Amino acid sequence: MKGWLITNGFLHTTKFTEIHLWLIESAKKLGIELTAKTNIEVLALLDSNAAKKAREESIDFVLFWDKDVRLAKYLEMTGYPVFNSSKAIEACDDKSLTHLCLQGAGIFMPRTLIAPMTFSNIGYTNLNFLAEAEQKLSYPMIVKECFGSFGQQVYMARNQEELVAIVTGIGAKPMLFQEFIKTSSGRDVRLQIVGGKVVAAMYRYSDTGDFRANVANGGKMKAYEPTQKQVELAIQCCKILGLDFGGVDILFGEDQEPVVCEVNSNAHFKNIYDCTGINVADSILEYIVKRICIG
Ligand SMILES: Nc1ncnc2c1ncn2[C@@H]1O[C@H](COP(=O)(O)OP(=O)(O)O)[C@@H](O)[C@H]1O
Ligand SMILES: [Mg+2]
Repeated sequence: MKGWLITNGFLHTTKFTEIHLWLIESAKKLGIELTAKTNIEVLALLDSNAAKKAREESIDFVLFWDKDVRLAKYLEMTGYPVFNSSKAIEACDDKSLTHLCLQGAGIFMPRTLIAPMTFSNIGYTNLNFLAEAEQKLSYPMIVKECFGSFGQQVYMARNQEELVAIVTGIGAKPMLFQEFIKTSSGRDVRLQIVGGKVVAAMYRYSDTGDFRANVANGGKMKAYEPTQKQVELAIQCCKILGLDFGGVDILFGEDQEPVVCEVNSNAHFKNIYDCTGINVADSILEYIVKRICIG
């Protein structure tokens, strides 16, 4: 069996290349030839001969480890099985879309207000909508850029002055405002799901006073036995979003009630390996083989 591992050609950090090598290594163990291709090498060429030409590539699947949803969509259109699907990646990449999809299915999430959209060359010429955010969410309030990871685009505003400063700093980029789940301050759980099952879980906590539990942001981690409710919630989220595999971040609400924080389509799995010894890359490749062979 052969496949392509699509990665982003503009992103060159060990954090990412390490993940790519793990996936290729896991494929090798299963006798799969997984070839890394960047989105610079594989381009979406839309002409009447392109689809025919692309289909001639003798690969059985595409493992899409990137957010270039246009390319993912193109590869699907040319007939390749793509994991995760372009639709699932798109819904997870934009946190506001994730919440919209989950809200439709009645999933328990922090109360969220999505900022109105503006244009990059215009920006927010007035901030009147912040009054609604203040009224519905109060302080402290979480502000998130819709596109972000490792906790780097997630902020806390403790008052109006901070809120205005954060929003001004974000500029015209899409963002959302969210209720702060204080019972979960500085801690959450990450569940890794593959093929509708939880394969690994970790508890993340910050001991620096930071409200964000991300390990990349200085958080600590330990292996975790998720509750039945957390397991069901994470599996349900992946199902709703159409994810073959993903990482679900769950907060602790009142009475330990699980509250969905976000869902990642390309969740990094090195940290979870370091604290659980479970190699999620193996599970992902095993799942793809099963899907290709059995359907
Ligand atoms: N509404 C919230 N209430 C409390 N903590 C939150 C909330 N949203 C996010 N956090 C904390 O911030 C971290 C980063 O937020 P998240 O939405 O997962 O963004 P990222 O994609 O950067 O990981 C979470 O892991 C959690 O610890
Ligand atoms: Mg997260």
